[in-house]
Amino acid sequence: MKNDENKIREKRKDEHVRLALIEGPNLHSHFDDLTFVHQSLPNIGWKDVNLQVIMPNLVLKSPLYINAMTGGSERTGKINGNLAKIAKATGMAMAVGSQHSGLRNQSLADTYRIVRRNNPDGIIFANVGADIPLDLALRAIDMLEANALQIHLNAPQELIMPEGERDFTDWLPQLEKIIKKVNIPVIVKEVGFGMSRTTLRMLKEIGVQYVDVSGRGGTNFIGIENRRREKQEYDYLSGWGQTTPISLLEAQTYINNMEIFASGGIRNPLDAVKCLSLGAKAIGLASPILRVLEREGLEEAIEELNHWHDQLKTIFTMLGARNIEDLCTCPLIITGEVREWCEVRGID
Ligand code: FNR
Repeated sequence: MKNDENKIREKRKDEHVRLALIEGPNLHSHFDDLTFVHQSLPNIGWKDVNLQVIMPNLVLKSPLYINAMTGGSERTGKINGNLAKIAKATGMAMAVGSQHSGLRNQSLADTYRIVRRNNPDGIIFANVGADIPLDLALRAIDMLEANALQIHLNAPQELIMPEGERDFTDWLPQLEKIIKKVNIPVIVKEVGFGMSRTTLRMLKEIGVQYVDVSGRGGTNFIGIENRRREKQEYDYLSGWGQTTPISLLEAQTYINNMEIFASGGIRNPLDAVKCLSLGAKAIGLASPILRVLEREGLEEAIEELNHWHDQLKTIFTMLGARNIEDLCTCPLIITGEVREWCEVRGID
């Protein structure tokens, strides 16, 4: 019985990767509703730009990080090994995927540990779900000697998954217990459905300091789980959730008193700079990195992310921003659906 459950879980991990590699429909991105005002006299040079991010108990060389994806099967262990090599070569922080498989089944723990082995000095985020008991959360951190712990909130995914959770009443109290006991940063994250200011208020009230709003626009777990079902009856829910720009705007009340990260549908370095300008401290990339790694290879993925870093500096320079703090003072014009959302929700 236990063996069967493990097999189902391993198969699910491989299917998530396979289905995430299929591009979603090319919808209008809310990032295109945000436009910087060009300045003809930047007054700085490319070499003046500093991308470092300094936060309480967490310093990142780059604002870009590899977001949680995988582990828990032979194939995904290899992917984790390669993602760790990318993280090491580019100086990016990296999260592993949910470690529940590795916690339940010791023989799978190596599919996560490989990340620390391949990147001994890197910044690594552990990852668990909000239903995890405290002792297992601590074991997940130990497994990787992690520098931070991500806790994912994925209610829509669980509900669409036939074998998923149906009761979410213990998530908030469980989160509060973990926050109080874990002595490294705890990053509460979505998985691509975004966050509202109500969610952020609830998290702030229980003491959460770090959040990744992970919005709609990229990987879509309703879509992925729907495709894993025998009958694909949830197509109509594919637009569920707040996009990443809207989630960051919802987060404005908390932008100066929490550490807000952004991820979900980041297509290029300009999208990342727009998030930073809205006050995000770091930007997570998941499927874009998986795609280049799986389709083109390790060296190409490293090269691509090095280009992203160069191009971040190029855009900072065009905006006359020496660092992330400067970016927040650059005017960003909001139009279209995003502007309408702000008007309806009373966001200035
Ligand atoms: C994910 N994501 C994810 N998140 C998490 O917290 N735990 C997990 O186990 C996973 N698993 C996972 C598998 C795969 C294959 C993908 C592509 C993604 C969600 C991820 O961290 C991120 O929040 C979303 O994917 C949105 O970012 P992108 O993919 O649009 O850049």
